[in-house]
Amino acid sequence: MEERSDMREKLVFLETFGCQMNDSDSERMLGILKGINFARTDDPGSADLILLNTCTVRDKAEQKVYSTLGRYKELKKARPGLIIGVGGCVAQQQGEKLLKRAPHLDIVFGPHNVHRLRELLLEADSGQRVVATRLTETIDADEYGVTGSSSGEKAFVSIMRGCNNFCSYCIVPYTRGREVSRQSADIITEIEGAARGGVKEVTLLGQNVNSYGASGGGAVSFPELLMMVCRVDGIKRVRFMTSHPKDIGSELIELFGQEKKLCRHLHLPVQSGSDRVLEKMGRGYTSSGYLSKIEQIKALYPDMSFTSDIIVGFPGETDADFQATMGLLRTARFDNIYSFMYSPRPNTRAAGFDGQVPLEVRTQRIQILQEEQKGIALERNRETIGRTVEVLVEGPSRGNPLEMMGRSSCNRIVNFACPPGFEGPGCLIEVVVTEAYQSSLRGRAEGNH
Ligand code: 5AD
Ligand code: SF4
Repeated sequence: MEERSDMREKLVFLETFGCQMNDSDSERMLGILKGINFARTDDPGSADLILLNTCTVRDKAEQKVYSTLGRYKELKKARPGLIIGVGGCVAQQQGEKLLKRAPHLDIVFGPHNVHRLRELLLEADSGQRVVATRLTETIDADEYGVTGSSSGEKAFVSIMRGCNNFCSYCIVPYTRGREVSRQSADIITEIEGAARGGVKEVTLLGQNVNSYGASGGGAVSFPELLMMVCRVDGIKRVRFMTSHPKDIGSELIELFGQEKKLCRHLHLPVQSGSDRVLEKMGRGYTSSGYLSKIEQIKALYPDMSFTSDIIVGFPGETDADFQATMGLLRTARFDNIYSFMYSPRPNTRAAGFDGQVPLEVRTQRIQILQEEQKGIALERNRETIGRTVEVLVEGPSRGNPLEMMGRSSCNRIVNFACPPGFEGPGCLIEVVVTEAYQSSLRGRAEGNH
């Protein structure tokens, strides 16, 4: 009987904040936990283990972590056996300080220590409070590849970690360390495993995928890696993010013409339309250089969709600088943008720059930017009416359970009614676009293939 109680399946409540890198790290955590008899729960009240995978890219994201963590204080009081851990970039940034700030916290572990979760749990089980924030300069084969917990048609695979760009506003190089690429053979093995498990679409993740192979990775360039991934049996679509505009080269651009599996979408963060601001950000390109690059790509592939990240209110940003960003927005006509108010981050150069922009001005600018983008997104979506798009079906539509939802090659959400003989989620289906909204399309399904 004793033995049986030890074998009891334990429950983990895991909440993920921030970017897709964190989503992919959370998948690794779940993979490790599954191996030691944990199942996932949606209810923190019934969990044996609570994990927060955190983000510190902007102050707001960091504050959210503290308020969430505060909510679990009472749970720990009620059940002292409960283990609470904080992973991700806040853990890396704060380390030991986080244990002092939250006496109910047991484990603090940074992004380079995810693969050590099992031993960290053992230490916490024996009553210790643990901090694991050592940054390493290489990636061992066994650090990645233990996803296994996700099911479905899509997988996100980290191909590298860290960043060497040190944009003046960004904390990532401090929390995720210097750039290191995984060995291509390890990446391919992971993707082959995912394909055997039914995955059809893979997204390769890195802070700057275009410099894949520059440090580590075994002499394979990013375009070469993409070709290898496209060869994997069962994988029907390949995506990647994020590309740095300064590093996107002609070899990669040409590959879109050769590899049918490569999706027609580029996430190309521009950050600002003002050359003065871009210079102070340390981005390594000008506004016209950026625009001519996307013009060159659009000329070759008119159906390519572009998304971007934009920061408003960078220190010293004047009205004229902001107008330059608005001008770039109108010229580039992105399909979607992720827009952020500048947030000063510890250790970064920009936090010490003169001319920090007041919150009211940042708020006003982001509203103006988002309003303009809404109109552009709707126009861009309307341009697709009448076209046939290939959709990878994900499941029932959110708004209407009688319809299915999936994404087009250019990553637009497409809803459609199930046709006769519909094969279900995971299939690719041709859909003729009949209606367009700001953030989705609706269409008529033509058939599975
Ligand atoms: N303030 C606001 N936005 C930021 N980003 C990164 N650092 C900051 C910051 N300090 C944004 C950038 C980046 C995205 C992931 O987050 O636009 O591309
Ligand atoms: Fe941050 Fe710049 Fe690196 Fe992106 S490229 S992670 S914005 S430092």
